[in-house]
Amino acid sequence: MKTLVVYDSVFGNTAKIAAKIAEGLETEAVHVDNVNDAMLEEADLIVIGSPTRAFKPTPKIIALVDNLTPARFGLAKLAAFDTRVNATSSKNLFMRFVDKMGYAAPWLQNKLTEKGFWVCEPPAGFFVEASEGPVQVGELDRAAAWAKSLPKD
Ligand SMILES: Cc1cc2nc3c(=O)[nH]c(=O)nc-3n(C[C@H](O)[C@H](O)[C@H](O)COP(=O)(O)O)c2cc1C
Repeated sequence: MKTLVVYDSVFGNTAKIAAKIAEGLETEAVHVDNVNDAMLEEADLIVIGSPTRAFKPTPKIIALVDNLTPARFGLAKLAAFDTRVNATSSKNLFMRFVDKMGYAAPWLQNKLTEKGFWVCEPPAGFFVEASEGPVQVGELDRAAAWAKSLPKD
């Protein structure tokens, strides 16, 4: 099975999680800027990852998803993950409330399901300590475990 991990990352944290997931799936993680239609069309499983920015994925990931249609990629399975601030441990008061407002991976899950794709459950969220990181201790291992839970065929 051919798997593609595609991600966006502003400060590098989602890139690290994407690389760990790709390692578990024995593939490469590709930045959204470097993904082309042929790569998407060839993939049997497309894993999409984004930092959570204002409760949603980044504009580049949203644009990628806008261009995906089941007619072209109907045979592909999809899976979504995000990075996010750990709202319960954040010292920033605003961040304590953001977990009520949503995250990028459930947003992707809903959008892709609405579009008619078969999307692996559940979407995954991985914690960073603060906006610029670092990735919270243990989250790279959790990313590796999540990768193992994804369909192999
Ligand atoms: C403008 C901005 C908006 C953000 N919005 C959210 C948010 O809504 N929820 C959240 O949990 N984290 C939010 N964050 C924190 C990001 O999720 C964090 O910067 C990201 O996970 C780091 O990943 P990256 O290094 O790949 O960019 C925001 C950060 C910035 C700078």
